[in-house]
Amino acid sequence: MADVKVKVLDNGPLLVEGTIEVVDAEGNTFQQKGALCRCGLTANAPFCNGAHAGKFENAPRAK
Ligand code: FES
Repeated sequence: MADVKVKVLDNGPLLVEGTIEVVDAEGNTFQQKGALCRCGLTANAPFCNGAHAGKFENAPRAK
């Protein structure tokens, strides 16, 4: 069993359950925590800010 679970929400972000460290391209750690945006519409990258609502459709399923 994994220590961290990432749930792909239909038409929404990646919901991380567990403790992770999110770092930028220069290795700096983000202090904020939250769901990770996967729609590209957030104004608070890399975190979801709800901008996906009604504007992003994607519901992947594991095969
Ligand atoms: S997934 Fe929520 S703003 Fe992108």
